[in-house]
Amino acid sequence: MKDETVGIVGAGLIGRAWAIVFARSGFQVRLHDQVPAALDNCLGIIGERLRDLAEFGLIAEPPETILARIRPSPSLAEAVGEAVLVQENVAEKLEVKREIFAELDRLAPPHAVLASSTSWLPASSFTEHVPGRARCLVGHPVNPPYLVPLVEIAPAPWTSPEAVARAREIYAKAGQTPVTLKKEITGFLLNRVQSAVLSEVFALYREGYADAEDLDRVLKDGLALRWSFMGPFETIDLNAPAGLADYAARFGGTYRDVAASAVAFDWDAETVAKADAERRKQLPLEDIEKRSAWRDRRLMALLAHKRSQPES
Ligand SMILES: NC(=O)c1ccc[n+]([C@@H]2O[C@H](COP(=O)([O-])OP(=O)(O)OC[C@H]3O[C@@H](n4cnc5c(N)ncnc54)[C@H](O)[C@@H]3O)[C@@H](O)[C@H]2O)c1
Repeated sequence: MKDETVGIVGAGLIGRAWAIVFARSGFQVRLHDQVPAALDNCLGIIGERLRDLAEFGLIAEPPETILARIRPSPSLAEAVGEAVLVQENVAEKLEVKREIFAELDRLAPPHAVLASSTSWLPASSFTEHVPGRARCLVGHPVNPPYLVPLVEIAPAPWTSPEAVARAREIYAKAGQTPVTLKKEITGFLLNRVQSAVLSEVFALYREGYADAEDLDRVLKDGLALRWSFMGPFETIDLNAPAGLADYAARFGGTYRDVAASAVAFDWDAETVAKADAERRKQLPLEDIEKRSAWRDRRLMALLAHKRSQPES
């Protein structure tokens, strides 16, 4: 694997994070950005993150060894010219994605998989015109991917099964947990589940059932404790003596009534402003960066714990 190269396009938040994921698992990384300042700064920022990971025992080699595998590249052609996988992380704009995919298809070797980190855009919306569209797909990470291993592989209708299999193999080699969508849908899987949870907590908040702080507690001190190591299907399978079907027989009717009474949240400005004011009382805007760093360190501690526990 030491000889395999990954080309990363866009050295912003997500591009830099992918560079850590691939370099720490032994891939050579070429990191490209069209803005020179983004490339000048990237190794310094990545080095800081690697030192945090080392502190929590989350990397197997010294930070400098991993950093030495990452080469910033002002030339897109050089960045992707030897890649087995190109991971695109430029702006979330359809036209920009359409242009860069045509360019990547021209410059990357024929066997390379071309993956986009896009959070919302289906691969079919920006690859239809690309001659090599059979090797294009979405590989959607969760921020930051070096702490949250899920990557959603979402192929377009014309993506080849070989490209999907190759992407799964490369992401797994990089230590990620790939899941594959069987057909395209906006928001893929994770953001659709997140959307359902946000819709319900905002609706409960808008209707005055609880304040935002208590609704946050419902997740962090309730549901999400289990969800950090088992999903909702397994959760309900264990919550009735005879498993999932038994759970559905006992509680399905109640859930049907709850679903019938649910009102989807339409993100109205008044409710958003009220929730924002509540958050700003708890966290002034100037402290957001400090709190985000705290969040990442908590995630590191959680990941270190999860790694120390057997899966079964
Ligand atoms: N931020 C998140 O939490 C998150 C999570 C998952 C996926 N994503 C997706 O990842 C992608 C990147 O998001 P981000 O948050 O890293 O954005 P960002 O703004 O931090 O970084 C984008 C980088 O791309 C560079 N860029 C723009 N056009 C380019 C081009 N044509 N060629 C080369 N470089 C170019 C910019 O200079 C910038 O450095 C988006 O598609 C986004 O939806 C973001």
